[in-house]
Amino acid sequence: MDYIAKTTSVDKESADCVVVGIFKPKRLSDSAKKLDKLYKGSITHACQRGTAGGNIGQITTLHNSGRSKHNCIIVVGCGDPNELTVSAYQRVLAAVASEIKNNKTSHVINCLTELAVKDADILTKAQLCVTAIESAMYRYSETKPSATNSKIHLKKQKFISSTKQELDDIRDGIEIGQAISHGMDLAKELGNLPGNVCTPTYLAEQALELKKEYKSLKVTVLEETQMKKLGMGALLSVSHGSVEPAKLVTMEYNGGEADERPIVLVGKGITFDTGGISLKPGATMDEMKFDMCGAASVLGTMKSCCELELPINVVCVIACAENMPGGKATKPGDVVTTMSGQTVEILNTDAEGRLVLCDALTYIDKFDPEIVIDVATLTGACVVALGQIPSGVMSNDDDLAKALIKAGELTGDRTWQLPLWDEYQSQLDSNFADIANIGGRWGGTITAACFLSRFTKKYTWAHLDIAGIAWHQGKMKGATGRPVPLLTEYLLHQAYEM
Ligand code: BES
Ligand code: MN
Ligand code: ZN
Repeated sequence: MDYIAKTTSVDKESADCVVVGIFKPKRLSDSAKKLDKLYKGSITHACQRGTAGGNIGQITTLHNSGRSKHNCIIVVGCGDPNELTVSAYQRVLAAVASEIKNNKTSHVINCLTELAVKDADILTKAQLCVTAIESAMYRYSETKPSATNSKIHLKKQKFISSTKQELDDIRDGIEIGQAISHGMDLAKELGNLPGNVCTPTYLAEQALELKKEYKSLKVTVLEETQMKKLGMGALLSVSHGSVEPAKLVTMEYNGGEADERPIVLVGKGITFDTGGISLKPGATMDEMKFDMCGAASVLGTMKSCCELELPINVVCVIACAENMPGGKATKPGDVVTTMSGQTVEILNTDAEGRLVLCDALTYIDKFDPEIVIDVATLTGACVVALGQIPSGVMSNDDDLAKALIKAGELTGDRTWQLPLWDEYQSQLDSNFADIANIGGRWGGTITAACFLSRFTKKYTWAHLDIAGIAWHQGKMKGATGRPVPLLTEYLLHQAYEM
Protein backbone atom coordinates (compact mmCIF):
# COMPACT_ATOMS: atom_id res chain seq x y z
CA MET A 1 0.00 0.00 0.00
CA ASP A 2 1.14 3.52 -0.81
CA TYR A 3 0.97 6.25 1.79
CA ILE A 4 1.42 9.83 0.67
CA ALA A 5 1.53 13.10 2.56
CA LYS A 6 0.87 16.42 0.89
CA THR A 7 0.48 20.03 1.98
CA THR A 8 -2.82 21.03 0.44
CA SER A 9 -6.49 21.44 1.24
CA VAL A 10 -9.05 18.66 0.98
CA ASP A 11 -11.34 20.60 -1.39
CA LYS A 12 -8.47 20.84 -3.90
CA GLU A 13 -7.54 17.14 -3.98
CA SER A 14 -9.44 14.48 -5.83
CA ALA A 15 -9.80 10.84 -4.84
CA ASP A 16 -12.27 7.93 -4.89
CA CYS A 17 -13.11 8.63 -1.36
CA VAL A 18 -12.40 11.11 1.42
CA VAL A 19 -12.70 10.49 5.15
CA VAL A 20 -13.71 13.29 7.54
CA GLY A 21 -14.75 13.39 11.17
CA ILE A 22 -17.75 14.94 12.90
CA PHE A 23 -18.35 15.39 16.61
CA LYS A 24 -21.29 15.20 18.96
CA PRO A 25 -23.67 16.94 18.63
CA LYS A 26 -23.54 17.54 14.89
CA ARG A 27 -20.29 19.51 14.91
CA LEU A 28 -18.17 19.39 11.78
CA SER A 29 -14.37 19.11 11.74
CA ASP A 30 -12.44 21.61 9.59
CA SER A 31 -12.24 19.34 6.55
CA ALA A 32 -15.89 18.33 6.96
CA LYS A 33 -16.76 22.05 6.84
CA LYS A 34 -14.77 22.52 3.62
CA LEU A 35 -16.47 19.57 1.94
CA ASP A 36 -19.84 20.69 3.24
CA LYS A 37 -19.28 23.99 1.48
CA LEU A 38 -18.03 22.32 -1.70
CA TYR A 39 -21.02 19.97 -1.81
CA LYS A 40 -23.72 22.46 -0.91
CA GLY A 41 -24.38 21.46 2.68
CA SER A 42 -24.65 17.72 2.11
CA ILE A 43 -22.93 16.82 5.41
CA THR A 44 -25.03 19.30 7.38
CA HIS A 45 -28.17 17.84 5.76
CA ALA A 46 -27.14 14.31 6.64
CA CYS A 47 -26.67 15.44 10.25
CA GLN A 48 -30.05 17.16 10.30
CA ARG A 49 -31.82 14.16 8.79
CA GLY A 50 -30.15 12.08 11.49
CA THR A 51 -28.41 9.77 9.02
CA ALA A 52 -25.01 11.10 10.11
CA GLY A 53 -24.14 11.27 13.79
CA GLY A 54 -21.20 11.91 16.04
CA ASN A 55 -21.18 8.71 18.07
CA ILE A 56 -17.75 7.13 18.15
CA GLY A 57 -17.23 5.01 15.05
CA GLN A 58 -20.64 5.86 13.53
CA ILE A 59 -20.16 5.71 9.76
CA THR A 60 -22.19 7.52 7.12
CA THR A 61 -21.17 7.26 3.48
CA LEU A 62 -22.36 10.04 1.17
CA HIS A 63 -22.14 9.45 -2.57
CA ASN A 64 -21.49 12.23 -5.06
CA SER A 65 -22.18 12.33 -8.77
CA GLY A 66 -19.50 10.88 -11.06
CA ARG A 67 -18.14 14.30 -12.00
CA SER A 68 -17.23 15.38 -8.46
CA LYS A 69 -13.71 15.53 -7.04
CA HIS A 70 -14.62 12.83 -4.54
CA ASN A 71 -16.92 9.94 -5.46
CA CYS A 72 -17.80 9.37 -1.87
CA ILE A 73 -17.37 10.94 1.54
CA ILE A 74 -17.04 8.75 4.58
CA VAL A 75 -18.26 10.75 7.57
CA VAL A 76 -17.19 9.19 10.84
CA GLY A 77 -18.42 10.04 14.32
CA CYS A 78 -15.68 11.00 16.78
CA GLY A 79 -17.71 11.49 19.96
CA ASP A 80 -17.16 14.44 22.27
CA PRO A 81 -14.31 16.63 20.91
CA ASN A 82 -12.86 16.98 24.42
CA GLU A 83 -12.88 13.24 25.05
CA LEU A 84 -11.00 11.98 22.01
CA THR A 85 -8.32 9.76 23.56
CA VAL A 86 -5.92 7.50 21.67
CA SER A 87 -8.11 4.47 22.27
CA ALA A 88 -11.30 6.32 21.21
CA TYR A 89 -9.41 7.50 18.12
CA GLN A 90 -8.47 3.89 17.40
CA ARG A 91 -12.12 2.87 17.54
CA VAL A 92 -12.87 5.62 15.01
CA LEU A 93 -10.03 4.42 12.77
CA ALA A 94 -11.07 0.78 13.01
CA ALA A 95 -14.61 1.67 11.89
CA VAL A 96 -13.23 3.65 8.96
CA ALA A 97 -10.84 0.87 7.98
CA SER A 98 -13.60 -1.71 7.87
CA GLU A 99 -15.81 0.63 5.79
CA ILE A 100 -12.97 1.26 3.33
CA LYS A 101 -12.35 -2.47 3.07
CA ASN A 102 -16.01 -3.13 2.26
CA ASN A 103 -16.73 -0.28 -0.14
CA LYS A 104 -13.97 -1.21 -2.59
CA THR A 105 -12.35 2.17 -2.99
CA SER A 106 -8.74 2.21 -4.09
CA HIS A 107 -7.63 5.77 -3.37
CA VAL A 108 -8.53 7.47 -0.10
CA ILE A 109 -7.81 10.88 1.36
CA ASN A 110 -7.69 10.61 5.12
CA CYS A 111 -8.42 13.90 6.94
CA LEU A 112 -8.44 12.44 10.43
CA THR A 113 -4.92 13.56 11.37
CA GLU A 114 -6.32 17.09 11.79
CA LEU A 115 -8.45 16.08 14.79
CA ALA A 116 -7.24 16.96 18.27
CA VAL A 117 -6.46 13.70 20.05
CA LYS A 118 -5.46 13.77 23.72
CA ASP A 119 -1.71 13.32 24.25
CA ALA A 120 -1.12 12.56 20.58
CA ASP A 121 0.83 14.78 18.19
CA ILE A 122 0.39 14.64 14.43
CA LEU A 123 3.17 12.08 14.01
CA THR A 124 1.41 9.74 16.43
CA LYS A 125 -1.93 10.31 14.71
CA ALA A 126 -0.50 9.41 11.28
CA GLN A 127 1.16 6.37 12.84
CA LEU A 128 -2.16 5.26 14.34
CA CYS A 129 -3.96 5.75 11.01
CA VAL A 130 -1.44 3.53 9.26
CA THR A 131 -1.50 0.76 11.86
CA ALA A 132 -5.32 0.80 11.86
CA ILE A 133 -5.54 0.36 8.09
CA GLU A 134 -2.79 -2.22 7.92
CA SER A 135 -4.34 -4.18 10.78
CA ALA A 136 -7.67 -4.31 8.97
CA MET A 137 -5.98 -5.49 5.78
CA TYR A 138 -4.19 -8.44 7.40
CA ARG A 139 -5.70 -11.80 6.68
CA TYR A 140 -4.60 -15.30 7.45
CA SER A 141 -4.43 -17.60 4.44
CA GLU A 142 -1.54 -19.99 5.00
CA THR A 143 -3.77 -23.00 5.73
CA LYS A 144 -6.94 -21.46 4.21
CA PRO A 145 -6.06 -20.24 0.71
CA SER A 146 -9.69 -19.36 -0.05
CA ALA A 147 -9.32 -16.41 2.34
CA THR A 148 -7.58 -14.53 -0.48
CA ASN A 149 -10.50 -14.94 -2.92
CA SER A 150 -11.93 -11.52 -2.15
CA LYS A 151 -9.81 -8.78 -3.61
CA ILE A 152 -8.32 -5.96 -1.55
CA HIS A 153 -8.99 -2.76 -3.47
CA LEU A 154 -7.28 -0.08 -1.41
CA LYS A 155 -4.00 0.96 -2.99
CA LYS A 156 -3.30 4.51 -1.94
CA GLN A 157 -3.96 6.58 1.11
CA LYS A 158 -3.20 10.29 1.22
CA PHE A 159 -2.75 12.44 4.32
CA ILE A 160 -3.12 16.19 4.26
CA SER A 161 -0.90 18.62 6.10
CA SER A 162 -1.19 22.37 6.48
CA THR A 163 2.51 23.18 7.06
CA LYS A 164 5.93 21.87 6.08
CA GLN A 165 6.59 20.76 9.66
CA GLU A 166 3.35 18.79 9.70
CA LEU A 167 4.31 17.21 6.41
CA ASP A 168 7.60 15.92 7.86
CA ASP A 169 5.87 14.67 11.00
CA ILE A 170 3.23 12.82 9.01
CA ARG A 171 5.92 11.21 6.87
CA ASP A 172 7.73 10.01 10.01
CA GLY A 173 4.45 8.72 11.40
CA ILE A 174 3.81 6.79 8.20
CA GLU A 175 7.24 5.19 8.34
CA ILE A 176 6.87 4.18 11.98
CA GLY A 177 3.30 2.99 11.44
CA GLN A 178 4.39 0.78 8.55
CA ALA A 179 7.29 -0.71 10.51
CA ILE A 180 5.02 -1.48 13.46
CA SER A 181 2.44 -3.00 11.13
CA HIS A 182 4.99 -5.27 9.50
CA GLY A 183 6.11 -6.43 12.94
CA MET A 184 2.48 -7.01 13.95
CA ASP A 185 1.77 -8.96 10.77
CA LEU A 186 4.68 -11.28 11.51
CA ALA A 187 3.50 -11.74 15.09
CA LYS A 188 -0.05 -12.44 13.93
CA GLU A 189 1.03 -14.90 11.27
CA LEU A 190 3.21 -16.93 13.64
CA GLY A 191 0.49 -16.87 16.29
CA ASN A 192 -2.19 -18.02 13.86
CA LEU A 193 -0.23 -20.93 12.40
CA PRO A 194 -1.36 -24.24 13.89
CA GLY A 195 0.76 -26.07 16.43
CA ASN A 196 1.64 -28.81 13.96
CA VAL A 197 3.29 -26.22 11.70
CA CYS A 198 4.62 -23.67 14.15
CA THR A 199 6.89 -25.84 16.31
CA PRO A 200 9.98 -24.69 18.25
CA THR A 201 12.05 -25.69 15.20
CA TYR A 202 9.81 -23.57 12.96
CA LEU A 203 10.21 -20.52 15.22
CA ALA A 204 13.98 -20.93 15.11
CA GLU A 205 13.79 -21.06 11.31
CA GLN A 206 11.77 -17.84 11.31
CA ALA A 207 14.52 -16.09 13.22
CA LEU A 208 16.98 -17.28 10.57
CA GLU A 209 14.60 -16.00 7.87
CA LEU A 210 14.69 -12.58 9.52
CA LYS A 211 18.46 -12.70 9.32
CA LYS A 212 18.21 -13.24 5.56
CA GLU A 213 16.20 -10.05 5.32
CA TYR A 214 18.39 -8.02 7.67
CA LYS A 215 21.98 -9.09 7.15
CA SER A 216 23.28 -7.24 10.21
CA LEU A 217 21.27 -9.48 12.57
CA LYS A 218 23.19 -12.16 14.40
CA VAL A 219 21.12 -15.27 15.13
CA THR A 220 22.12 -18.24 17.25
CA VAL A 221 20.02 -21.31 18.03
CA LEU A 222 20.84 -23.40 21.09
CA GLU A 223 19.93 -27.09 20.84
CA GLU A 224 18.91 -29.27 23.77
CA THR A 225 22.40 -30.76 24.19
CA GLN A 226 23.87 -27.27 24.56
CA MET A 227 21.11 -26.23 26.96
CA LYS A 228 21.85 -29.33 29.01
CA LYS A 229 25.51 -28.33 29.24
CA LEU A 230 24.47 -24.88 30.44
CA GLY A 231 22.35 -26.49 33.15
CA MET A 232 18.95 -25.35 31.90
CA GLY A 233 17.06 -28.00 33.83
CA ALA A 234 13.85 -25.98 34.06
CA LEU A 235 13.54 -25.21 30.35
CA LEU A 236 14.34 -28.81 29.40
CA SER A 237 11.82 -30.21 31.89
CA VAL A 238 9.09 -28.67 29.74
CA SER A 239 10.14 -30.23 26.43
CA HIS A 240 10.79 -33.69 27.97
CA GLY A 241 7.25 -34.89 27.32
CA SER A 242 7.32 -33.87 23.68
CA VAL A 243 8.97 -35.28 20.57
CA GLU A 244 9.63 -31.71 19.42
CA PRO A 245 13.03 -30.52 20.66
CA ALA A 246 13.24 -27.22 22.54
CA LYS A 247 15.13 -24.31 20.97
CA LEU A 248 16.59 -21.23 22.60
CA VAL A 249 16.94 -18.59 19.92
CA THR A 250 18.97 -15.38 20.25
CA MET A 251 18.83 -12.46 17.83
CA GLU A 252 21.33 -9.65 18.24
CA TYR A 253 20.75 -6.28 16.62
CA ASN A 254 23.55 -3.74 16.95
CA GLY A 255 22.35 -0.34 15.84
CA GLY A 256 24.04 1.48 18.71
CA GLU A 257 27.62 1.99 19.88
CA ALA A 258 29.63 -1.19 20.40
CA ASP A 259 30.01 -0.52 24.14
CA GLU A 260 26.37 0.37 24.70
CA ARG A 261 24.51 -2.09 26.91
CA PRO A 262 21.58 -3.71 25.09
CA ILE A 263 17.88 -3.77 25.80
CA VAL A 264 16.96 -7.43 26.02
CA LEU A 265 13.53 -8.79 25.09
CA VAL A 266 12.64 -12.33 26.15
CA GLY A 267 9.58 -14.14 24.76
CA LYS A 268 7.69 -17.21 25.93
CA GLY A 269 7.51 -19.57 22.96
CA ILE A 270 5.37 -22.52 24.02
CA THR A 271 4.18 -23.64 20.60
CA PHE A 272 1.45 -25.72 22.21
CA ASP A 273 0.48 -25.93 25.87
CA THR A 274 -1.50 -29.05 26.74
CA GLY A 275 -0.65 -28.47 30.39
CA GLY A 276 1.57 -31.57 30.36
CA ILE A 277 0.74 -34.22 32.98
CA SER A 278 -1.36 -31.54 34.74
CA LEU A 279 -3.46 -31.74 31.60
CA LYS A 280 -5.73 -28.84 30.69
CA PRO A 281 -9.47 -29.42 30.16
CA GLY A 282 -10.48 -29.93 26.53
CA ALA A 283 -12.68 -26.89 25.94
CA THR A 284 -10.83 -24.19 23.97
CA MET A 285 -7.54 -26.04 24.34
CA ASP A 286 -6.89 -25.30 20.66
CA GLU A 287 -6.22 -21.71 21.74
CA MET A 288 -3.05 -22.92 23.44
CA LYS A 289 -1.40 -22.79 20.02
CA PHE A 290 -1.25 -19.06 20.83
CA ASP A 291 0.98 -19.75 23.83
CA MET A 292 3.97 -18.66 21.75
CA CYS A 293 2.60 -15.15 21.16
CA GLY A 294 5.17 -13.65 23.52
CA ALA A 295 7.93 -15.04 21.33
CA ALA A 296 6.06 -13.97 18.19
CA SER A 297 5.75 -10.40 19.47
CA VAL A 298 9.46 -10.32 20.27
CA LEU A 299 10.25 -11.51 16.73
CA GLY A 300 7.83 -8.93 15.35
CA THR A 301 9.40 -6.16 17.41
CA MET A 302 12.84 -7.19 16.17
CA LYS A 303 11.53 -6.84 12.61
CA SER A 304 10.13 -3.36 13.29
CA CYS A 305 13.38 -2.36 14.97
CA CYS A 306 15.45 -3.55 11.97
CA GLU A 307 13.14 -1.79 9.54
CA LEU A 308 13.43 1.49 11.45
CA GLU A 309 17.21 1.02 11.83
CA LEU A 310 16.99 2.19 15.44
CA PRO A 311 20.32 3.48 16.81
CA ILE A 312 20.36 1.16 19.82
CA ASN A 313 21.46 -2.34 20.69
CA VAL A 314 18.68 -4.88 21.13
CA VAL A 315 18.94 -8.56 21.95
CA CYS A 316 15.88 -10.79 21.53
CA VAL A 317 15.69 -14.23 23.04
CA ILE A 318 12.83 -16.66 22.54
CA ALA A 319 12.48 -19.77 24.68
CA CYS A 320 10.67 -22.33 22.55
CA ALA A 321 9.22 -25.68 23.61
CA GLU A 322 6.08 -27.77 23.33
CA ASN A 323 4.37 -28.77 26.59
CA MET A 324 3.05 -32.32 26.20
CA PRO A 325 2.25 -35.27 28.43
CA GLY A 326 4.39 -38.25 27.47
CA GLY A 327 6.32 -41.14 28.96
CA LYS A 328 9.22 -38.87 29.74
CA ALA A 329 7.15 -35.88 30.78
CA THR A 330 7.80 -34.05 34.03
CA LYS A 331 5.51 -35.19 36.87
CA PRO A 332 4.03 -33.07 39.65
CA GLY A 333 6.46 -33.14 42.54
CA ASP A 334 9.54 -33.48 40.32
CA VAL A 335 12.40 -31.22 41.33
CA VAL A 336 14.69 -29.66 38.71
CA THR A 337 17.79 -27.51 38.93
CA THR A 338 17.72 -24.25 37.00
CA MET A 339 20.68 -22.65 35.23
CA SER A 340 20.92 -20.24 38.18
CA GLY A 341 21.51 -23.16 40.54
CA GLN A 342 18.21 -22.66 42.35
CA THR A 343 16.03 -25.77 42.55
CA VAL A 344 12.34 -25.76 41.62
CA GLU A 345 9.61 -28.13 42.75
CA ILE A 346 7.23 -28.49 39.80
CA LEU A 347 3.88 -28.83 41.56
CA ASN A 348 1.93 -28.15 38.38
CA THR A 349 3.34 -28.92 34.94
CA ASP A 350 0.88 -26.42 33.45
CA ALA A 351 2.88 -23.57 35.01
CA GLU A 352 5.49 -24.18 32.30
CA GLY A 353 5.97 -20.66 30.96
CA ARG A 354 7.92 -19.53 34.03
CA LEU A 355 10.07 -22.67 33.71
CA VAL A 356 11.27 -21.87 30.19
CA LEU A 357 11.57 -18.17 30.99
CA CYS A 358 13.62 -18.53 34.17
CA ASP A 359 16.49 -20.23 32.34
CA ALA A 360 16.29 -17.74 29.46
CA LEU A 361 16.39 -14.89 32.01
CA THR A 362 19.53 -16.38 33.58
CA TYR A 363 21.12 -16.99 30.18
CA ILE A 364 20.77 -13.38 29.02
CA ASP A 365 22.83 -12.09 31.93
CA LYS A 366 25.83 -12.64 29.65
CA PHE A 367 24.73 -9.67 27.53
CA ASP A 368 25.09 -7.30 30.51
CA PRO A 369 21.63 -5.88 29.78
CA GLU A 370 20.66 -2.32 30.54
CA ILE A 371 16.99 -3.29 30.58
CA VAL A 372 15.21 -6.63 30.31
CA ILE A 373 11.57 -7.06 29.33
CA ASP A 374 9.97 -10.47 29.13
CA VAL A 375 6.71 -11.05 27.28
CA ALA A 376 4.53 -14.05 28.01
CA THR A 377 1.02 -15.49 27.85
CA LEU A 378 1.76 -16.50 31.41
CA THR A 379 -1.40 -16.75 33.49
CA GLY A 380 -5.13 -17.23 33.06
CA ALA A 381 -5.36 -15.22 36.28
CA CYS A 382 -4.25 -12.13 34.34
CA VAL A 383 -7.32 -12.44 32.13
CA VAL A 384 -9.50 -12.79 35.23
CA ALA A 385 -7.93 -9.70 36.81
CA LEU A 386 -7.71 -7.32 33.85
CA GLY A 387 -9.91 -8.77 31.13
CA GLN A 388 -8.89 -8.54 27.50
CA ILE A 389 -8.05 -4.83 27.24
CA PRO A 390 -4.63 -4.26 28.81
CA SER A 391 -1.67 -6.52 29.37
CA GLY A 392 -0.33 -6.70 32.92
CA VAL A 393 3.04 -5.16 33.76
CA MET A 394 5.15 -5.94 36.81
CA SER A 395 8.62 -4.59 37.38
CA ASN A 396 11.46 -4.23 39.85
CA ASP A 397 11.81 -0.63 38.65
CA ASP A 398 8.95 1.86 38.68
CA ASP A 399 10.50 4.11 36.04
CA LEU A 400 10.63 1.20 33.61
CA ALA A 401 7.01 0.31 34.37
CA LYS A 402 6.03 3.96 33.78
CA ALA A 403 7.87 4.08 30.46
CA LEU A 404 6.11 0.92 29.28
CA ILE A 405 2.73 2.22 30.40
CA LYS A 406 3.36 5.44 28.47
CA ALA A 407 4.41 3.57 25.31
CA GLY A 408 1.22 1.55 25.65
CA GLU A 409 -0.97 4.65 26.00
CA LEU A 410 0.58 6.29 22.92
CA THR A 411 -0.05 3.26 20.74
CA GLY A 412 -3.37 2.21 22.24
CA ASP A 413 -1.63 -1.03 23.25
CA ARG A 414 -2.29 -0.48 26.91
CA THR A 415 -0.81 -2.11 29.95
CA TRP A 416 -1.71 -1.92 33.66
CA GLN A 417 0.65 -2.29 36.56
CA LEU A 418 0.22 -4.91 39.28
CA PRO A 419 2.27 -4.88 42.50
CA LEU A 420 5.32 -7.04 42.97
CA TRP A 421 5.59 -6.72 46.72
CA ASP A 422 7.82 -8.94 48.84
CA GLU A 423 4.82 -10.12 50.85
CA TYR A 424 3.73 -12.29 47.93
CA GLN A 425 7.04 -14.15 47.72
CA SER A 426 6.33 -16.62 50.53
CA GLN A 427 3.53 -18.15 48.46
CA LEU A 428 6.33 -19.85 46.51
CA ASP A 429 7.86 -21.64 49.53
CA SER A 430 8.50 -25.34 49.07
CA ASN A 431 9.57 -28.08 51.50
CA PHE A 432 11.52 -29.84 48.80
CA ALA A 433 13.20 -27.13 46.70
CA ASP A 434 14.24 -23.47 46.79
CA ILE A 435 11.08 -22.44 44.96
CA ALA A 436 7.71 -23.99 44.09
CA ASN A 437 6.52 -23.29 40.56
CA ILE A 438 3.01 -22.27 41.65
CA GLY A 439 1.85 -19.90 44.37
CA GLY A 440 -1.59 -21.12 45.30
CA ARG A 441 -5.04 -19.83 44.50
CA TRP A 442 -4.71 -16.06 44.94
CA GLY A 443 -2.82 -13.48 42.94
CA GLY A 444 -1.67 -15.94 40.31
CA THR A 445 -0.35 -13.29 37.93
CA ILE A 446 1.71 -11.70 40.68
CA THR A 447 3.12 -14.95 42.07
CA ALA A 448 4.11 -15.96 38.53
CA ALA A 449 6.03 -12.67 38.29
CA CYS A 450 7.47 -13.32 41.77
CA PHE A 451 8.79 -16.62 40.46
CA LEU A 452 10.52 -14.81 37.58
CA SER A 453 11.85 -12.13 39.94
CA ARG A 454 14.02 -14.78 41.62
CA PHE A 455 16.01 -14.92 38.37
CA THR A 456 16.19 -11.21 37.49
CA LYS A 457 17.86 -9.69 40.54
CA LYS A 458 20.95 -8.55 38.64
CA TYR A 459 19.25 -6.15 36.25
CA THR A 460 16.39 -3.72 35.66
CA TRP A 461 13.49 -5.84 34.54
CA ALA A 462 9.82 -5.77 33.62
CA HIS A 463 7.43 -8.59 32.87
CA LEU A 464 4.45 -8.24 30.52
CA ASP A 465 1.68 -10.81 31.00
CA ILE A 466 -0.15 -10.81 27.66
CA ALA A 467 -2.51 -13.73 28.32
CA GLY A 468 -5.60 -11.54 27.84
CA ILE A 469 -4.52 -9.55 24.80
CA ALA A 470 -2.45 -11.77 22.52
CA TRP A 471 -5.43 -13.20 20.64
CA HIS A 472 -9.15 -12.73 20.03
CA GLN A 473 -11.59 -15.50 20.88
CA GLY A 474 -14.82 -16.60 19.20
CA LYS A 475 -15.80 -15.62 15.68
CA MET A 476 -12.84 -13.27 15.34
CA LYS A 477 -10.40 -15.87 16.67
CA GLY A 478 -6.89 -14.89 15.74
CA ALA A 479 -3.67 -13.33 17.00
CA THR A 480 -3.69 -9.56 17.62
CA GLY A 481 -0.03 -8.73 16.99
CA ARG A 482 0.15 -7.09 20.41
CA PRO A 483 2.29 -5.97 22.18
CA VAL A 484 4.46 -5.14 19.14
CA PRO A 485 3.18 -1.51 19.12
CA LEU A 486 3.99 -1.00 22.80
CA LEU A 487 7.45 -2.57 22.54
CA THR A 488 8.43 -0.77 19.34
CA GLU A 489 7.24 2.55 20.76
CA TYR A 490 9.27 1.90 23.89
CA LEU A 491 12.39 1.16 21.82
CA LEU A 492 11.81 4.31 19.75
CA HIS A 493 11.72 6.37 22.93
CA GLN A 494 14.91 4.72 24.18
CA ALA A 495 16.59 5.30 20.83
CA TYR A 496 15.71 8.96 20.49
CA GLU A 497 15.42 9.83 24.18
CA MET A 498 11.90 11.11 23.72
N1 BES B 1 -0.45 -20.57 28.90
C1 BES B 1 -1.10 -20.67 30.16
C2 BES B 1 -1.79 -19.36 30.56
C3 BES B 1 -3.04 -19.02 29.84
C4 BES B 1 -4.22 -19.70 30.11
C5 BES B 1 -3.07 -17.98 28.95
C6 BES B 1 -5.38 -19.34 29.46
C7 BES B 1 -4.23 -17.62 28.31
C8 BES B 1 -5.38 -18.30 28.56
C9 BES B 1 -0.08 -21.01 31.23
O1 BES B 1 0.94 -21.84 30.84
C10 BES B 1 -0.83 -21.71 32.30
O2 BES B 1 -1.32 -22.77 32.04
N2 BES B 1 -0.91 -21.12 33.47
C11 BES B 1 -1.61 -21.70 34.56
C12 BES B 1 -0.82 -21.45 35.82
C13 BES B 1 -1.34 -22.20 36.99
C14 BES B 1 -1.12 -23.69 36.81
C15 BES B 1 -0.62 -21.71 38.22
C16 BES B 1 -2.98 -21.02 34.64
O3 BES B 1 -3.06 -19.82 34.40
O4 BES B 1 -3.94 -21.72 34.88
MN1 MN C 1 0.42 -23.90 30.99
ZN1 ZN D 1 1.46 -21.77 28.85
